[in-house]
Amino acid sequence: MQDDRRPVANDPRLAPVRHGLTVNGRSVAVEAAPGTRLLYVLRNDLALNGPKYGCGLGQCGSCTVLVDGRALRSCAIPVRAAVGRRITTLEGLGSGGRLHPVQEAFIAENAAQCGYCLNGMILTTVALLAANPDPSEAEIRSSLQANLCRCGTHIEILRAVRAAAARLRAARTGSDGGEA
Ligand code: FES
Ligand code: FES
Repeated sequence: MQDDRRPVANDPRLAPVRHGLTVNGRSVAVEAAPGTRLLYVLRNDLALNGPKYGCGLGQCGSCTVLVDGRALRSCAIPVRAAVGRRITTLEGLGSGGRLHPVQEAFIAENAAQCGYCLNGMILTTVALLAANPDPSEAEIRSSLQANLCRCGTHIEILRAVRAAAARLRAARTGSDGGEA
């Protein structure tokens, strides 16, 4: 009887190959099968644990990273598709020893219970505010609606996004960032 596991085990698509990536401003090389999901490479090979494994199906948002500035789900991206792109994880957001203003706003507003969703909430907010510095309430809700929070911290998260927008606008204009 033919062993039908053998063709899979010998499938050249599963053989590890070298991929050059740019992650948080650094060039790195990883060995992985081309179809390996970016999330696994980030967490297992590069020890970047900001992106979280939630559903593994592109439906919850906990694994979000920025790819060329767009908030995308790393559990749904094969590593081969990330070659040549600029990947930013939660670990790469801050600069000069400081957290990113969006991270600071989420902390200031206590926008977490277990915190599992926050990686996706924060990175989605960073992408939103880069494209739209003064989003309406409806635009904020629309941007975050596919990011799930099973703790039900939505009110605090929405407040944090508004506060983050105010902080970033203030940083641009040099004012104190308080919401009017
Ligand atoms: S783990 Fe990627 S969207 Fe849920
Ligand atoms: S704070 Fe727990 S899932 Fe959002």
